[in-house]
Amino acid sequence: MIIDPAEVNKMTTKEKNVVPLFMSDKALTRAIKIKSFLFERGIDLDHSPKERRFEVLKRTIKKCRACSFREECSAPVSPQGPIDSRIVFQGRNPGRVEDREKIPFSPRAKGGSLLEKYFETLGLRRDQVYITNTVFCYTENNRSPETEGILKCLAWKNIEFEIVQPKFIFLLGNDAIRSYMGLDYPSVLRIIGDVYKTDLFGRETYLIPLYHPAHVVRNMNLLESLLNVLKHIREELF
Ligand code: URA
Repeated sequence: MIIDPAEVNKMTTKEKNVVPLFMSDKALTRAIKIKSFLFERGIDLDHSPKERRFEVLKRTIKKCRACSFREECSAPVSPQGPIDSRIVFQGRNPGRVEDREKIPFSPRAKGGSLLEKYFETLGLRRDQVYITNTVFCYTENNRSPETEGILKCLAWKNIEFEIVQPKFIFLLGNDAIRSYMGLDYPSVLRIIGDVYKTDLFGRETYLIPLYHPAHVVRNMNLLESLLNVLKHIREELF
């Protein structure tokens, strides 16, 4: 479904309480295991300054071998951007260019370049937003990561968003959306324009599903409605 630009002002903020998958008991248990592992090695992740916690997180992610994706990529791609940003963009997983350059949504890739347009429409620059992925490893042939790997990565998301405390999380494409809402959640085509409220570690957070930029690159007729959604969000929520 392509939403009619005139329909954008009917966008709804869903008050329903979404509990992101990465806050599930399973993700939480794995996050606790990771923290205990670090604690035994002298790193108290829960009581270190934010910057240190983030550095440890990135270093530990690089060593992750929890699923087979690690064998397919050159190394995991760490999130990028200010950790005190209110605004997070979350994609699927790094593409070939990102695997080489080690930055998420490289502006030199088509999707990353279009993402700059999302930022601009929201009145933001890239260096003001925090950019992350659902899965940190590239998967061969740029295929959608399988569920097992997505579930393993949820523990990292749990630790990551305990450190970064966003107000707005833009979910780029179905994999990002489903890693919050549940793996059988309707496609973004049906929910674009909806805004969900949730509680993340005691803070009110808005979840905003958007088309993945790579999807828009392949279907440029979606661009106008997407930009209208972004303009509406800028006017109503920021
Ligand atoms: N696609 C994504 O979802 N993430 C990236 O970092 C690059 C491409």
